[in-house]
Amino acid sequence: MARDWKGGSASTFKTIGASNHCEHERADKDYYATEPAATDWLCRIEQFCGPILEPACGEGHISRRLMAHGYDVVSRDLADRGFGEVADFLSEKNTAWDGDIVTNPPYAFAQEFVEKALAIIPDGRKVAMFLKLTFLEGKKRASLFQNYPPRRVWVSRARLKCAMNGDFEHSPGSATAYGWFVWEKGFKGSPEIRWFN
Ligand SMILES: C[S@@+](CC[C@H](N)C(=O)[O-])C[C@H]1O[C@@H](n2cnc3c(N)ncnc32)[C@H](O)[C@@H]1O
Repeated sequence: MARDWKGGSASTFKTIGASNHCEHERADKDYYATEPAATDWLCRIEQFCGPILEPACGEGHISRRLMAHGYDVVSRDLADRGFGEVADFLSEKNTAWDGDIVTNPPYAFAQEFVEKALAIIPDGRKVAMFLKLTFLEGKKRASLFQNYPPRRVWVSRARLKCAMNGDFEHSPGSATAYGWFVWEKGFKGSPEIRWFN
């Protein structure tokens, strides 16, 4: 599978300063834990129908907050981080999920995660992905946005952190703008842009 970015100190993102990860090599399997406040905000601005799948759960930073807000959550990750089941979300064998999907995907496979999530849920279900706002740009994503426009893009007014290897204590302040991208499968209109935080 083609990756749009392998990361590392020579990455394009370092060169253009579009990432907060530029001082470091990438974390193992792109593990950056999401600041819990991001998911608390999501639960205030969007409603979901359980069960929710968190397919790249890491140590459960998103899953735990979803559960705290009353949702049933199934958590999986390619790596065993002591939370959830071990499973490859992009596996061909993963063909169906009858519910909504919420995650912060590995950045190198963000588009693949969005496409896979939309492929395996029924019409009307939601996919919410915590993504860099730069996900909006790029020729490679033209057909994704044309065929599957997000229903809403929620821009975080204040910076939220994603901590390498889950280490919030030693992670620097965020230089990256993030948002929640929300798809409703079957939606074909123009996306709304909104703000939170
Ligand atoms: C950016 S981290 C986010 C972790 C968690 N969602 C959070 O927000 O705190 C991405 C996670 O995706 C996992 N991952 C990478 N490739 C995967 C795959 N093919 N299937 C499932 N999980 C994967 C990594 O192990 C890592 O834990």
